[in-house]
Amino acid sequence: MGKKILLEHINVPGIETYDVYRKQGGYTAVEKALKTMTPDEVVEEVKKSGVRGRGGAGFPMGMKWSFLAKPEGVPRYLVCNADESEPGTFKDHYLMKNLPHVLIEGMIISSYALGANKSFIYVRGELMYVVRILEKAIAEAKAAGFLGKNILGTGYDLELVVQPGGGAYICGEETALLESLEGKRGNPRNKPPFPAVKGLYQSPTVVNNVESIATTSWIINNGGEAYAAIGIGRSAGTKLISASGHIKKPGVYEIELGVPVEEFIYSDEWCGGIRDGHHLKAVVAGGSSVPILPANLILKLANGDPRLMTYESLSDGGFQTGTMLGSGGFIVFDETSCIVRNTWNFARFYHHESCGQCSPCREGTGWMERVLHRIEYGHGNQHDIDLLVDVAKKIEGNTICPLGDAAAWPVASAIRHFRDEFEWHITNPSEATQPGAVFKGDMALV
Ligand SMILES: Cc1cc2nc3c(=O)[nH]c(=O)nc-3n(C[C@H](O)[C@H](O)[C@H](O)COP(=O)(O)O)c2cc1C
Repeated sequence: MGKKILLEHINVPGIETYDVYRKQGGYTAVEKALKTMTPDEVVEEVKKSGVRGRGGAGFPMGMKWSFLAKPEGVPRYLVCNADESEPGTFKDHYLMKNLPHVLIEGMIISSYALGANKSFIYVRGELMYVVRILEKAIAEAKAAGFLGKNILGTGYDLELVVQPGGGAYICGEETALLESLEGKRGNPRNKPPFPAVKGLYQSPTVVNNVESIATTSWIINNGGEAYAAIGIGRSAGTKLISASGHIKKPGVYEIELGVPVEEFIYSDEWCGGIRDGHHLKAVVAGGSSVPILPANLILKLANGDPRLMTYESLSDGGFQTGTMLGSGGFIVFDETSCIVRNTWNFARFYHHESCGQCSPCREGTGWMERVLHRIEYGHGNQHDIDLLVDVAKKIEGNTICPLGDAAAWPVASAIRHFRDEFEWHITNPSEATQPGAVFKGDMALV
């Protein structure tokens, strides 16, 4: 069995309650941090661990913390990003629902390290039942003396607020989230200033993902070096992967970074292989925003070595033959999947979710959706494929926030790797529009 850090106690009955969590060693990291370490020592330990943000971009967490401005007399905030609206990603939901105290404990440690006395958990608005679970866990932790005034007699005060989100994917982008938390429409802000300087209510703020914050208890209990020893190189530690699609065992798995992709897909410990009688066609490895890869490229690097579940290995080959670990939303497609339809489906999502501030994204996502729709429904023409590539290029890098890139990459990569399939839709419209019709050309299935 692989190393478990976050999900170690997931199968203990009642682990969502304070009493059971405490019996399993819960809140010892808070005691250690608040009673025996200075905030700077906690930051140092997190830096040593090498843990990278698990929300998608993979930015080193300790480094982000050390950028936090500390002007005199100005409050600082920690905001936990629990918006989790990326298609294919559901690991934060799983963690909060089953192990709310792992997040609460991480929030206390992280808030202490950053000098925050009021911190927020911004939860995807559709998940009201998770809001209630977290509120219950917070009340339990408070009753036990781990939240509120003068925690454990150390003089440190912390109030934790759970805020239901605004119901839009864009509210997961950290500056849109801050706008939404301030009660405004969730539009991303221009940067600089970055949240570390002017964030929530114009005060220095750190925004971190649920999983990132949840790792801090283990790091404090076991030391940053012990965490850094797990995984491979700059991909330290474990990662929660949301596995879905045509696999035998969809679910949330905690893997040690460095597991070969092939093992992750085929081992009974994780996905259990492709459903019986079918073959692997493609994988979206890190949530809908990352480039899709065909079977041969997701399993092996250009030099024939196995591709690993790490930030570096998944992105090996750049945009030509690589992808990204992203948020760990691992979507598996077998040969019954139509890549054109899937790409259109993703494009529909991004068009719907574009906030509309930047013209390339507002207009471009709509163009891509419409062009993909006509290809899928048998009305495409030969120029449409190049038009899609052109529109995707014009969105990429030209928007305030990365939603534009997130919309462009799935389209550009699908065309890069499955161009034949798009062409087939255009040249054989009557065949391609039959219910359940899928391109059966010459492609590498595994
Ligand atoms: C459109 C969009 C949606 C995002 N949604 C989320 C999200 O739901 N959860 C999350 O943690 N990060 C999300 N991010 C990334 C955040 O902006 C930010 O990088 C992250 O919360 C930082 O946390 P980390 O450093 O711990 O990963 C999103 C980014 C974009 C552009």
